[in-house]
Amino acid sequence: MEVDGFLEDLRFSNEEACAGLEQAMRYSLLAGGKRIRPVLTLATAAAVGWEPGSVLPLAAAIELIHTYSLIHDDLPAMDDDDLRRGRPTCHRAFGEDVAILAGDGLYAEAFRLLLEQQPGEPAGLLAAARELAAATGVQGMVGGQFIDVAGTAPDGPAGLRRLHELKTGRLIGASIECVLVLVGGHIRDTMSSFRSFASELGVLFQIVDDILDVTGSQETLGKPQGSDERLGKRTYVTEFGLDGARALARESHQRARSALAQAAPSGAMELEQITDFIATRTY
Ligand code: IPE
Ligand code: IPE
Ligand code: MG
Ligand code: MG
Ligand code: MG
Repeated sequence: MEVDGFLEDLRFSNEEACAGLEQAMRYSLLAGGKRIRPVLTLATAAAVGWEPGSVLPLAAAIELIHTYSLIHDDLPAMDDDDLRRGRPTCHRAFGEDVAILAGDGLYAEAFRLLLEQQPGEPAGLLAAARELAAATGVQGMVGGQFIDVAGTAPDGPAGLRRLHELKTGRLIGASIECVLVLVGGHIRDTMSSFRSFASELGVLFQIVDDILDVTGSQETLGKPQGSDERLGKRTYVTEFGLDGARALARESHQRARSALAQAAPSGAMELEQITDFIATRTY
């Protein structure tokens, strides 16, 4: 896949003394994730009439950030998991100190990659960088991870949905929205439908992740099954039961598909396929 080749070719430093850090970053990055976020970025470019290959630096930057979030999510102080992408987690392989730095390094290198290598008008590039920072900061992923570990989501379905919107939804949404702002004004009419699609898809993704944490196996998931239950996490399954969570995933899938139909009335085949994959995936 184009994305994998691009990621494989990335090098972060020639400094001999930092080789071990680069090794840890590449270990987690190249362990073989599903690459859903970068694939969404490329598919969004295709949907708005841009050459998908032209957004590879942006797509890769998003995958770097996602990988950083997984490395930190697995740390003993967070979810304390030993397996990720079918391999020992970064801290298991390299130690906690190096794993923390590998995550920090991936986050900063993502912005360097975006700002150094992504073609586009300066205003579009700035808007994409801003969206990516917002989606991963306190109003996005990191805020969501805090709500998750601190257990501060308000009671009830709205509180749980908010948790999912922030911790997972915003970065998935940014995989779509960064392309829209990079491309610029001419798609302004469909922007709000794309935004609804992006946000629904992000929540759908995490509902399915919650279900798979219960129903999946370690072999197919490449990460431990039952992690949420072990940690007493609040999920769509604890809140609504397995059947309830599945029903809500189906509703969310329908909402995502209809928002997409509004955003791209003449069709966006790849985005439709990824949406269906996210709803029906088993890993
Ligand atoms: C897992 O994401 C973490 C969540 C946000 C739920 P993915 O399921 O996309 O993980 P990889 O990239 O395929 O390993
Ligand atoms: C992680 O959610 C979300 C982020 C990494 C931001 P989970 O803790 O449910 O992800 P998994 O199940 O470990 O992949
Ligand atoms: Mg977690
Ligand atoms: Mg986790
Ligand atoms: Mg999970």
